[in-house]
Amino acid sequence: MTVTAPMPRFPAGFLWGVSTSAHQIEGAADEREPSVWDAFTAEPGRVKDGSTAAVACDHYHRHREDVALLAGLGVDAYRFSVSWPRVRAPRGLDFYDRLVDDLCAAGVRPVPTLFHWDLPLGLDWLERDTAARFADHVGVVAERLGDRVGTWITLNEPAEHTLLGHALGVHAPGRRLLFDALPAAHHQLLAHGLAVGALRAAGARDIGIANSHGPTWPASEDPADMAAADFYDILLNRLFAEPVLLGAYPAGLGELMPGDVAADLEVIAEPVDWYGVNYYAPTKVGAPRDTGTDVGGVRMPAELPFSVREIEDRPRTDFGWPVVPEGLTELLTGFRDRYGDRLPPVIITENGCSYDGLDDRDRIGYLDGHIRALHEAMTAGVDVRGYFVWSLLDNFEWAEGYARRFGLVHVDYATLARTPKASYHWFREVLRAQR
Ligand code: NOJ
Repeated sequence: MTVTAPMPRFPAGFLWGVSTSAHQIEGAADEREPSVWDAFTAEPGRVKDGSTAAVACDHYHRHREDVALLAGLGVDAYRFSVSWPRVRAPRGLDFYDRLVDDLCAAGVRPVPTLFHWDLPLGLDWLERDTAARFADHVGVVAERLGDRVGTWITLNEPAEHTLLGHALGVHAPGRRLLFDALPAAHHQLLAHGLAVGALRAAGARDIGIANSHGPTWPASEDPADMAAADFYDILLNRLFAEPVLLGAYPAGLGELMPGDVAADLEVIAEPVDWYGVNYYAPTKVGAPRDTGTDVGGVRMPAELPFSVREIEDRPRTDFGWPVVPEGLTELLTGFRDRYGDRLPPVIITENGCSYDGLDDRDRIGYLDGHIRALHEAMTAGVDVRGYFVWSLLDNFEWAEGYARRFGLVHVDYATLARTPKASYHWFREVLRAQR
């Protein structure tokens, strides 16, 4: 195990956890209804290695082993997602019932996310009605699990689901609508607000949303680059935060949204108890380029009013993402400065990196740096209550298939054997030292 300098002390009660999502780990696709991701992966060329999530880590059948891994790691909490297509299938909710029971028995707090991109096939975020149907689904789940689940997450990364799935078409449902994708953003936000209402009605008191955020760095001081970076910052850092935190869309974007936006914003701004942040890396942004740009495996078309640039002079993960721990401090202090008292306590709902190999010292370096950077933000006065590593297991990394390994635990996809990596042992020691 790689030894690092002692970690600073986090406050008592700070929530340490790991995250996964249903479609990425469960498998057992024949024991649930299909989702937009099943349809998308069936189209040739959509997933880089041609794989599907039909089996994935087979967590559905091996969840006991995975709960034992969580208990062995010593985390306080486990963030997983409840698959809406599974809940619609007979006995689907029974699985989450068992999982929650097993987690409680192991002393691990269950933290379910209610939507992590696997929309039932046939539903569509461009339709307003999907928001109401989501709230109904949330009510059903809360009624079944609410006696044991205290902490809930409504949506995971609606920004990425909108951008990658509806604007650029590189994730399910594979639409390339560019700015015509904005209604999908509004309807997800409305779904979030309605879900908060449904959870409150079921007695829930600890509710958040998991949004993806990262500092946006202008490529230069040239006004065209600065304007492009500002625009990107609105899309990534404000579009999904401000309706929730302030009850308003930034920069006049509300005018582009469908329906009675003012009335919807009142629903969307239903107070949350904490705000979830998924952080991986900053983004460098410049003025548009005629050719478009291709960064981190995602094609940014020339029609967009910005282009994403490489961040040079930084170590990279095996995915090619830059490693910038201080970006997390910058992000959190920036949020605090921007939103002040309107920002509730923050939980880092995802942070992690993709590296191959069992002796994953690079992952240890990444996590070590980011946990310290988080502590710095707290020392600077940001109220952060928890930190979740993405991910417990190697899993189906969406359009990248199984090629990217984010797990603290290695999964051999031929045998489905789980093997804790060096980072698992390291994180266990970090947690032990905090007790
Ligand atoms: C964000 C997503 O929530 C998760 O599903 C994904 O695997 C990780 N980030 C890594 O890309």
